[in-house]
Amino acid sequence: MPAHLDIRGYAIVSDDDKIAGADGLTPVSLRNEKDWELYQRAQDLANLVVFARRSHEAEPNVRGRPRLVVSREAVGLEQRPDGWWWNPGRASWPDVTGRLLPGGGPVAVCGGQVVFDLFLSIGFDGFHLSRAYGVTLPGGRSVFSACDAGVPAATVLGENGLTLSERIPLDPAHGVEMTVWRRVP
Ligand SMILES: NC(=O)c1ccc[n+]([C@@H]2O[C@H](COP(=O)([O-])OP(=O)(O)OC[C@H]3O[C@@H](n4cnc5c(N)ncnc54)[C@H](OP(=O)(O)O)[C@@H]3O)[C@@H](O)[C@H]2O)c1
Repeated sequence: MPAHLDIRGYAIVSDDDKIAGADGLTPVSLRNEKDWELYQRAQDLANLVVFARRSHEAEPNVRGRPRLVVSREAVGLEQRPDGWWWNPGRASWPDVTGRLLPGGGPVAVCGGQVVFDLFLSIGFDGFHLSRAYGVTLPGGRSVFSACDAGVPAATVLGENGLTLSERIPLDPAHGVEMTVWRRVP
């Protein structure tokens, strides 16, 4: 029987469900100290932290956490100095977990869009979606590709088996709220 995994996504979005601006970068308006602390804590506790290549470059693995970088450049699953690199077209998720997570445990999925989309199909057990109210990022990068077709992120999560379980007023002074989504049992 495969080991138990707890796969959770972490993102902070604008009112229009964007994780980055039109320049491909996360603007200061999406940076929040309290959200950052929880995000870092989740990575500390995870047995594997997953980033797509551009997000990996934007947040280098300075703390030496067990990181998996999703890229078409990887041969399959290969170890590099900055973490494990994975091409899902050439090695399956069960291949990855069999090798890197034999005992299971928490997996933190930190984006960007490529990785969030990928894990919608693999299956999230939970998603921590923070929102900076009052921020819009026209032409920016959406958290899920479906949002580019006008589907709200909340609808995407609901359609993928998750239900809203908690609203946390993370930083009311700065208009930041976290919604916690969990898999419907
Ligand atoms: N606000 C937030 O919560 C949040 C969260 C995450 C990221 N971000 C920000 O969002 C920006 C980047 O996000 P992004 O969505 O543009 O890029 P991304 O998803 O992080 O990375 C894109 C990369 O994924 C790889 N990729 C694409 N298709 C693939 C496939 N079929 N198989 C394997 N790998 C594939 C490609 O790398 P190769 O070219 O190597 O194949 C591509 O360059 C950064 O500024 C980051 O800081 C913000």
